[in-house]
Amino acid sequence: MASISFRTLGSSGIKVSPLGLGCMGMSFAYGPVDEAESFRVLRRFIELGGNFFDTAEIYGPYANEELLGRFLREVPRESVVIATKFGFKFVNGERRGVDSSPENVRRACEGSLSRLGLDYIDLYYQHRVDPNVPIEETIGALKELVAAGKIRSIGLSEANPETIRRAAKVHPVAALQSEYSLWTRDVEANGVVSTCRELGIAFVPYSPLGRGFLTGAIQKLSDLDPSDWRLTNPRFAQEVFEANLKLAEAVKKLAAKKNCTPAQYALAWVLAQGNDMIPIPGTKRVKYLEDNMGALAVQLTEIDLQETNETFGELKVAGERYTPEMMTMVHR
Ligand SMILES: NC(=O)c1ccc[n+]([C@@H]2O[C@H](COP(=O)([O-])OP(=O)(O)OC[C@H]3O[C@@H](n4cnc5c(N)ncnc54)[C@H](OP(=O)(O)O)[C@@H]3O)[C@@H](O)[C@H]2O)c1
Repeated sequence: MASISFRTLGSSGIKVSPLGLGCMGMSFAYGPVDEAESFRVLRRFIELGGNFFDTAEIYGPYANEELLGRFLREVPRESVVIATKFGFKFVNGERRGVDSSPENVRRACEGSLSRLGLDYIDLYYQHRVDPNVPIEETIGALKELVAAGKIRSIGLSEANPETIRRAAKVHPVAALQSEYSLWTRDVEANGVVSTCRELGIAFVPYSPLGRGFLTGAIQKLSDLDPSDWRLTNPRFAQEVFEANLKLAEAVKKLAAKKNCTPAQYALAWVLAQGNDMIPIPGTKRVKYLEDNMGALAVQLTEIDLQETNETFGELKVAGERYTPEMMTMVHR
């Protein structure tokens, strides 16, 4: 991947590989973990030209940042771009709602720096907007962290256009992270993507593989470990599973025409939406990582994109992307 052209995190000027690496599943949410294989994935990502790593305080909690911290001892600091996130309140290590108060921002940042073993975080996201704390106060606290050299740039996750605009008035926002993929396209219609473009904010699509579903690797619910969080996700519910398999089948057909794998097609589609798109597919296996990085060699034409739109215009995903409780926390 020596010749890949890097993309930029908004006006921060920070250069990142066009595909980042979502590290969440290495410690959290998606069933059993294997630290040795995770290390191989992290190393291989660098070998393949990647530099952009995504984690969060909540992944574990803490365990994912600790894992990344152990890995980061091996690599020169300037060769990697580390993004992490704050915004939840914890009681005895358990998540208890959101908290983006300035005090919690400062507490979380110190914790993340220590677990990652870093002097500074490249991109620090608010994970979920806190309805009880004006965004101006949160960004004000982040601005102070920028001035103190503890973070290089500021990001938001799952914020709506109004919140993005208010935040950007206090300090430039480098990146907005939201779910975006062939089966989750609400950010196209609700003004999030256009607001980011207007304000020069990079868009970081998370779950670009539809949490693995669009790759076709999940054909039945028993393919998921009983501990897997996806078993609680409405799109993976028994009642809609069969209907949603049609979407994975459609990706498979489109990919076959393009001589690539379904995962590569799903990622190439996101990458083709604009140079401001920096998807962060997640994996804990080297073979999937290598497959995903192959997406950078897949160029979709206007005709491919049109055909994809037509196919997915007819197929509707069944089920919300989160439970009702978790849906109240997005786009606010
Ligand atoms: N801001 C937020 O609120 C938020 C929310 C969710 C995620 N994220 C971030 O976004 C990252 C990516 O999202 P995600 O992990 O939820 O979803 P994803 O990238 O859409 O899918 C990950 C799943 O796909 C599987 N997979 C990956 N590559 C594959 C391939 N080539 N073939 C077959 N299966 C493949 C992985 O399996 P294995 O696990 O077995 O490798 C994993 O189960 C996360 O790691 C996290 O850093 C952010």
